[in-house]
Amino acid sequence: MKFSAFVAVSMALAASAGPSFVRRASFTLQNGKDAIALNQKFQSLTPNSSCQTGEDACIDNKFAQCVNGKFVLQQCGGGLICAALPLVNSAGTSITCTTAADRDARIAATGATDASNNAATGNAASSSAAASSTSSAAAASGTAAGGGNSNDPQQSLTLLQSVIATGFENDGQDQPTAGQVPSLTSSNNFINFCATVPNLPITNGQQIKTGSCNPAPMGVIAATTNMPSSKFQFPTNNAKIPANQNFTIKMAIQHLETGHFTNANENYFAAPQVVNAQGDIQGHSHVVVEQIDAVDTTKVTDPTKFVFFKGLNDQAVNGVLSVEVGGGLPKGAYRLASINTAANHQPALVAVAQHGSLDDMVYFTVE
Ligand SMILES: *[C@@H]1O[C@H](CO)[C@@H](O)[C@H](O)[C@H]1NC(C)=O
Ligand SMILES: *[C@@H]1O[C@H](CO)[C@@H](O)[C@H](O)[C@H]1NC(C)=O
Repeated sequence: MKFSAFVAVSMALAASAGPSFVRRASFTLQNGKDAIALNQKFQSLTPNSSCQTGEDACIDNKFAQCVNGKFVLQQCGGGLICAALPLVNSAGTSITCTTAADRDARIAATGATDASNNAATGNAASSSAAASSTSSAAAASGTAAGGGNSNDPQQSLTLLQSVIATGFENDGQDQPTAGQVPSLTSSNNFINFCATVPNLPITNGQQIKTGSCNPAPMGVIAATTNMPSSKFQFPTNNAKIPANQNFTIKMAIQHLETGHFTNANENYFAAPQVVNAQGDIQGHSHVVVEQIDAVDTTKVTDPTKFVFFKGLNDQAVNGVLSVEVGGGLPKGAYRLASINTAANHQPALVAVAQHGSLDDMVYFTVE
C-alpha cells in the first residue's frame, strides 16, 4: 500500500517533469501581479474593516483572520511581517508571515512589477493561456498529493518547495567523529515519518502514557539572544524550611513570554513553538518537587514520582512566577526543578546545542 502510493507519486512527478515548466511560466507572472494587488489592498485595511468570515488578510503587518465579520489580528512570530506571496507551483497566492525581503524577492522572481493585467501587449493572451493550464496543473498536483487543492499553505496537503530542508537528506557521516551515528534522513521533511512506526498511535494532542508518534514540526527556534533561563528565589539551594506549613515557590524567569498555555489534554505537543516580536518563546513554566533520600544523594530519581507539580500558567509578575504549596511538605529532603516550555507544553527549543541550562534546580530540606 505504502509502496504503491510512492510509485504513483514518483510517476506523477516524472510525467509532469517536462510540461510543468511551461505551465509554471504561464501562471507565474499572474501570481506575482495578484500578490502585488493583494498587498496593495491590505494597505487600505484597518482592524475595523468589515470582512467575510473565512477571509484572511494582512493588517498593520499582522496576520488577520475574519471571524464573525470582524478581523482578528495575530502578530507574526520572530519579527516577521504578514504578506501575500505568489505560489510557486500552481496558480494563486498565499498569505503568510515572512520578511519584507522574502516577499519582495518572491514577487520579483515572477517578473511582476505592478498589479495591472494590461501592462504590456500580449499579456491578455498569456493570462488566458494561464487560466486554462492552471486548472490542469492544479488538478495534477491535487492528484499526486492525494487531495489538498487549497491555495492556503496552512490547509494544503502539499509540501511547499520553499519549506523543504534539503539538509535532511544528509546522514552526517560525510564528516564523521568517533562514535557518531548516521542521522535518519528524509527528502520530504519527514512528513510521513509516523508511518514508519505503525505500532504507535499519532500523538494527536493527547498525553498517551504508553508513547506515541507526533507529526507536528518543531517550529520557530529561539535565537541565542532569546534563550529562556530561570532561577529559584524561594526556596534557594540548601534552604531549610519548616514542615507542613504553606510556602510559596518563587522563580525569576527571563526570555520566556509567560502566560501562553494550551489545553494540556487536547493540544499536547500539537503545534509548533512560536516566539513573540522580540524573539522570546511564547510559553509557560512548571515546577516539580521530588522527595529524595538526602540533598547529597547520588540515587537516580524516578520521574513518575513527585510530591508537588504545578503548571505556572499566569504571566510572570515583575519577571517572577510564583505558586503556593498549600499545607507545605513533610520533613525530608527535596529537589525542586523548573520545566520551561512552549505554549503546547514541549520543551523550549533554542538555536544552539551548547548553552547553559534553560531550567533551574535547587535542593532543600524541610525540618
Ligand atoms: C476602530 O474602532 C474603534 C471603536 O469603534 C475606534 O476607537 C478606533 O479608533 C477605530 N480604529 C480605526 C483604525 O479606525
Ligand atoms: C495555604 O495554602 C492554601 C492553598 O494555596 C490556601 O488555600 C490557604 O489559605 C493557605 N493558608 C494560609 C494560612 O496562608
